[in-house]
Amino acid sequence: MHAVPYLTVPAPEMARPGGPTSLAMALAACPEWWRPLVDYCLDTRWCQLLEQTEQHEVWLLSWLPGQGTDLHDHGPASGAFAVAAGTLTERVVAKSGRLPTEVTHELAVGHCRAFGPHYVHQVTNSGSVPAVSVYVYTPARTVMNRYQLEPPGLRANGVSVDQ
Ligand SMILES: [Fe+2]
Repeated sequence: MHAVPYLTVPAPEMARPGGPTSLAMALAACPEWWRPLVDYCLDTRWCQLLEQTEQHEVWLLSWLPGQGTDLHDHGPASGAFAVAAGTLTERVVAKSGRLPTEVTHELAVGHCRAFGPHYVHQVTNSGSVPAVSVYVYTPARTVMNRYQLEPPGLRANGVSVDQ
């Protein structure tokens, strides 16, 4: 396994009380908050923007088994996501250096990942039960850049504004 450079290391402010990491973890650990709000979609992962301020956005997502994202980043936004139910697999691809490096994280309930700007990852529910996660972005993000990984590296593959 290769070490993945700095983009996977959250800035210190991400972990501060009230910051993205602590907010995502607190909300994910509060099923009485997310259970009445969550929904599921047979065609693709479900997502809902629940809060938007100048400082951050809070999204609730659900993932049926097999559902996931393409490789993507969130542009200049930083953020964190926490697993509230089920399990998720995160594949991280670092762009620095001559060749991309990859690492995979298996994330169970209560696990959280924080990330900086231009962090490229792919999230999938590889488990057998539905998963739920909470994402917090700061500042409120503006784009989701999609990528494909092919020799010699990451290739841009479109932009969208949804989660
Ligand atoms: Fe993402």
